[in-house]
Amino acid sequence: MRIVILKDYETVSNWVANYLHPKISLSMQDEKHPFVLGLPTGSTPIGTYKNLVRYYSTGELSFRNIVTFNMDEYVGIPENHPESYHYFMHHHLFDHIDIPKENINILNGNAGNLEKECQDYEDKISINGGIDLFLGGIGPDGHIAFNEPGSSLTSKTRIKTLSYDTILANSRFFDNDLSKVPKMALTVGVGTVMDAREVVIIATGYNKARAIRQIVEGGVSHMWTASMLQLNRRMILVCDDAATMELQVETVKYFKDIEKVAGEILPG
Ligand code: PGA
Repeated sequence: MRIVILKDYETVSNWVANYLHPKISLSMQDEKHPFVLGLPTGSTPIGTYKNLVRYYSTGELSFRNIVTFNMDEYVGIPENHPESYHYFMHHHLFDHIDIPKENINILNGNAGNLEKECQDYEDKISINGGIDLFLGGIGPDGHIAFNEPGSSLTSKTRIKTLSYDTILANSRFFDNDLSKVPKMALTVGVGTVMDAREVVIIATGYNKARAIRQIVEGGVSHMWTASMLQLNRRMILVCDDAATMELQVETVKYFKDIEKVAGEILPG
């Protein structure tokens, strides 16, 4: 696992967008091979999305040859509901870039047959040659997508019942009314994220520090589902100083030193 530790949210967002820049740029040179990108929702990636929109609006990047697969979606709320992940993605990214509509994939939480919807999603990822890079955030409990503690570490896209804690936490977006909060979601599995050729996880803020400690210093455990990503061949964790607060000082120093040496010997 590569760990990049930066000052704050803004620096992290700039770093991640800058990391994606050449990959998106390269996709424009080979029309036959789109860059297949897995994407998260949540507050964490908003800064990165802002930068990507800026790259498009200044003419630096085009997203015409990008195919996206989102991580998850609630079951049973309309796509135009302000809390749906369809709405989020269009609001923060897709409405502001030139990605073709048919290249956007988001699970349909209103499908008549939800199990088929999940299987079709996995099939579509395979037809597209698998995911080149999965971008993700993590929850304070170490979850990745809606893979809450205890989820199978080899899981694929499926229906998940949300934990009471998640429903309670999400109620702030639904007039603090528990009855309005979706109780189920469709989500890619931990195994789906693991299969990506590369994974970039963003974690900022002290409320992620406990999860970062488990994911970086702990072993692989289904109680911290993102810890499975230790086994991905190309996994980068990009975090701000606050998210590293529960790591040992020597761990932080170790990973900062590696980045420093790499910065000195590698071009760019
Ligand atoms: P956040 O959510 O980006 O809003 O912190 C991340 C997550 O729960 O996966």
